[in-house]
Amino acid sequence: MTRALFDPITIRGLEVRNRIWIPPMCQYAVDAQDGIPTDWHLMHLGSLARGGAGAVIVEATGVVPEGRISPQDLGLWNDTQRDAFQRVTDLIHSQGAKAGIQLAHAGRKASTGREWGPRTDGNVPAEHGGWQPVGPSPIAFSGLAVPTELTTDGIREVVDAFAAAARRAVDAGFDILEIHGAHGYLLHEFLSPLSNQRADEYGGSLENRSRVLLETVDAVRAEVGQDVPLVVRLSATDWVEGGWDLPQTERLTAWLGEHGTDLISVSTGGNVADARIPVGPGYQLPFATSIKQTTGLPVAAVGMIDNPFQAEQIVALGQADVVLVGRESLRDPNFPIRAAEALRYDLPYKPAQYERAYR
Ligand code: FNR
Repeated sequence: MTRALFDPITIRGLEVRNRIWIPPMCQYAVDAQDGIPTDWHLMHLGSLARGGAGAVIVEATGVVPEGRISPQDLGLWNDTQRDAFQRVTDLIHSQGAKAGIQLAHAGRKASTGREWGPRTDGNVPAEHGGWQPVGPSPIAFSGLAVPTELTTDGIREVVDAFAAAARRAVDAGFDILEIHGAHGYLLHEFLSPLSNQRADEYGGSLENRSRVLLETVDAVRAEVGQDVPLVVRLSATDWVEGGWDLPQTERLTAWLGEHGTDLISVSTGGNVADARIPVGPGYQLPFATSIKQTTGLPVAAVGMIDNPFQAEQIVALGQADVVLVGRESLRDPNFPIRAAEALRYDLPYKPAQYERAYR
């Protein structure tokens, strides 16, 4: 088989050592409700970098306080947070990986609880650090509060906040920026006719529903300049009739490419609570491959890719340019090194300290 998975990839001039990247995964580990990364994040992200990943993408990070999913999310709306991220990027870099960060606004799905601890049905109450969510239209996600409809000024503030957070991310040492346009959070809510029923220039036609995401990409690109690789994460389908779907995703992706997006991270779902999703190994891969084939833009595939041979095959066959390994990398942060061993690559960055484990 062609060597593929551990070949470097260059994105907008940035060389990444291989094609196994870590997707953003919220840790809900900020306990002071101030969005600042903790020792947990440092250890967690550092171990993933040490484990051999090409790039480690930090979890969904709120560009404004009300854009966090939970009160325990990370944030990048102030310079204290920016300065605290520096040691995260330094540690990732010290292990040879590139550092990315997912900039996010949770929209109508904001102010919800983490999965453990007291029961977290519905929104987090104000006395526990919750807040009133915003969205494109006053349409609630199942079980959550009806969001306040963003005004056009409110939309402008969100776009500006993405740009300001992008600046802080670059200043904190991040190599790759990712805009969260997936999983039923704010930018996806604008894309999908199920959550966006606006009558202004941000609702209605595909062009209008795509406007806020494209404005966000433009604002981020204008802020950080031409050198920084920019990823957009999309849900390729709502998995529901009449919702967001693959043909719309492909048209949007073409526009995103024209607006300076370098890679699409192709996920699905998240905007509809009871969508029927045929989950299984590589179940989202066909969406990534189709987007790559129809638009020519590089793509990252994600979703139950947890086997070295499966990952190698995806890249070798050109079905995707990058594979994102999520839960398997939580089970084994050294998954990339283990995969390289299984595939008989001789990785120059396998830690010598661990050599005896592989004899
Ligand atoms: C996630 N996922 C996720 N996605 C995202 O875009 N931003 C995020 O912050 C998170 N947070 C998150 C936390 C945890 C604990 C998990 C397990 C997942 C989704 C994740 O990036 C990935 O798309 C899925 O986990 C599917 O890939 P795997 O796990 O099957 O490899």
